[in-house]
Amino acid sequence: HWTDQFSAKGRLDTLTAPLTDPISGQPALKHVAARIEKFAAKAFGFAVTRHRPSPDAAAYWAVAKCKGGWRVELAFAEDDIDWAGFAGSLFGASPGAEMLAYHDCDAGQHRIAAFDGDQLSGALFVAPGPVAVSRGWAAEQLSADHVDRRGRLAIVAGRPGGVDVDRGAIVCSCFGVGANQIVEAVRRGCGSVAAIGAALHAGTNCGSCRAEIRVIIEAQSLQAAE
Ligand code: FES
Repeated sequence: HWTDQFSAKGRLDTLTAPLTDPISGQPALKHVAARIEKFAAKAFGFAVTRHRPSPDAAAYWAVAKCKGGWRVELAFAEDDIDWAGFAGSLFGASPGAEMLAYHDCDAGQHRIAAFDGDQLSGALFVAPGPVAVSRGWAAEQLSADHVDRRGRLAIVAGRPGGVDVDRGAIVCSCFGVGANQIVEAVRRGCGSVAAIGAALHAGTNCGSCRAEIRVIIEAQSLQAAE
């Protein structure tokens, strides 16, 4: 279900033979012999950007729309990259944008954020392994005002600062409720999907997240019992 518009290497149909059923035209996409190798990425990245990003310099990328902009998963075949230059072209930031950066070259950690006025234009997080920064928290920064320097530095630090709460991965997209919020509600005594719905609204609209909420409740109950 991925196209070239949303991922560099997401189309499985590039691997399959061009065979179709002679009557229906249905393509034979579901069984084919293929030899695959794991892509040995030297660096991984995650970014949020206000404008649609241009990640073509990365060997692998996948973009998705989020509130306020775009989120991008990245992987690189090399790690000797001009990360500030890559971030600048990824964000499409204006020439007057304020750039903040943290580099630990020995550890392969790089974090770069650009601000246009009070708005975040983009933030890039690079690490030698899959990037651990909270996707939900990073994406929320695109819609937030960043008037003070402390808040801007929190983005470069790659985690929420002060009283900001990390909701965790979004479980209920109807109400924007994250895994960390559900775990917290279970700890406060919500022991059923209905109780989570009453406390957070999660699961009370389309219902497609209820199974996942149930799994989180069961995992927390098991942990508490142990
Ligand atoms: S995704 Fe949770 S109610 Fe729709």
